[in-house]
Amino acid sequence: MTETAWMSGETAVAPDSVQALTKKVFVKTYGCQMNVYDSQRMADALAADGYASTTDIGDADLVLLNTCHIRERAAEKVYSELGRIRAIKAERASHGRETVIGVAGCVAQAEGEEIMRRAPVVDIVIGPQTYHRLPDAVRKARAGERVLETDYALEDKFEHLPQPKPAAVKNRGVTAFLTVQEGCDKFCTFCVVPYTRGSEVSRPVAQIIAEAERLAASGVREITLLGQNVNAWRAEGPDGRAWGLGELLFRLAEIPGVGRLRYTTSHPRDMNDTLIAAHRDLPILMPYLHLPVQSGSDGILKAMNRRHTADDYRRLIDRIRHVRPDIALSGDFIVGFPGETDADFEDTMRIVRDVTFVQAYSFKYSPRPGTPGADMAFHVDETIKDERLQRLQALLVRQQQDFQTSLVGRSADMLIERPGREPGQWVGRSPWLMPVILDEKPGEIGDIVDVRITRTGTNSLHAEAL
Ligand code: SAH
Ligand code: SF4
Ligand code: F3S
Repeated sequence: MTETAWMSGETAVAPDSVQALTKKVFVKTYGCQMNVYDSQRMADALAADGYASTTDIGDADLVLLNTCHIRERAAEKVYSELGRIRAIKAERASHGRETVIGVAGCVAQAEGEEIMRRAPVVDIVIGPQTYHRLPDAVRKARAGERVLETDYALEDKFEHLPQPKPAAVKNRGVTAFLTVQEGCDKFCTFCVVPYTRGSEVSRPVAQIIAEAERLAASGVREITLLGQNVNAWRAEGPDGRAWGLGELLFRLAEIPGVGRLRYTTSHPRDMNDTLIAAHRDLPILMPYLHLPVQSGSDGILKAMNRRHTADDYRRLIDRIRHVRPDIALSGDFIVGFPGETDADFEDTMRIVRDVTFVQAYSFKYSPRPGTPGADMAFHVDETIKDERLQRLQALLVRQQQDFQTSLVGRSADMLIERPGREPGQWVGRSPWLMPVILDEKPGEIGDIVDVRITRTGTNSLHAEAL
């Protein structure tokens, strides 16, 4: 619910089990799921060069920060982390151990030269479009060069990034991300993504199917398709027709072993009929949809360049609920966009009450250099932003709790993921993304089993096997 969720989450790539590799890489990931996916692919590319992943930064010959530029606080974190890393590098150097430091991701893309200037400890700055060149950059850095690699590559990075070994996929668990689309052409006036990730690029169908088949063959049961605007994905289908995300989902649902499909993040403008039909016809497409609306005020939506009205969004949700009544909605909201009045904010509260969300991320508007929003008049006072955010989050938290409470006593399917924190406990994933905790083992990891929800925690559900 707060900024500590996925938008600023920090996750480490799971360590490799391969012992024979000598050099170690530590990757710290900030920001969205696409960065999580990219971090794994960078680790895969480096594994081919003899680097094993470690979760111990002090043990790492190569430290990579995969960064996020979406809000001011996210970008600041990078510089404070680099201060800490400088000390670690000096400590290792005192034992004669060399450490290469790399900054990747959206801060690298947006502020590459500034990072090089402000942080001499950094050896490599590499933008999201050029990760296939990372092994080469590391070799250069080890030879003493400082490498700045932020051009938009002409070649397809995905085609050039090596696929993970089946053992590495298994190690990461039974759920996996699969990036199908990258970049954004929408230019919402608050957002840096079109500048950090470049224009929309869709991966070809054959590449996506091959990757999904490899994941499934290595034990992955739930695949989440990723894109900054994942539902803007389009490519030529094997039938020669123009495919959108709906057609792709129908095709992926045929892959043996794939038990669940999801996709994120979507834009309301790109929800077409075939995609809605996929929600109607594909039981393995989970009844959960992250569809950000940002604001409930038409004036603010216009100023944000979202190119739809609040009622367009309401009508769209009605259409989706008509074919899939049990669908759970999740959203993103920004409060305090320049010019937002009390009445505009009340419109946001109203759309939340009308639509009801089971989960949501809400943020105070953060002016981003280079975006049109930053130069707009009538910036909203921080204290007003704080008040609005608190009221909105209170409403969203109540809706989440109401939803989770409504599930108590109901049965649901759950994908068994891993042992829980307490001995004997098992953790799985509900159709609505929130984790389910059981006090028994109702099957093997990777099984999809029926459970009954017995009670609800803050962000999780408790259940018993049926
Ligand atoms: N492509 C997605 C959003 C990607 S960014 C979409 O169009 O919905 C993820 C979320 O971060 C956005 O939905 C927005 O709510 C938030 N965000 C983006 N830029 C922001 C800014 N400058 N200040 C505050 N929140 C922002
Ligand atoms: Fe940013 Fe808008 Fe593109 Fe989403 S659609 S990534 S908010 S510019
Ligand atoms: Fe952040 Fe870049 Fe993702 S700015 S949200 S890491 S696309």
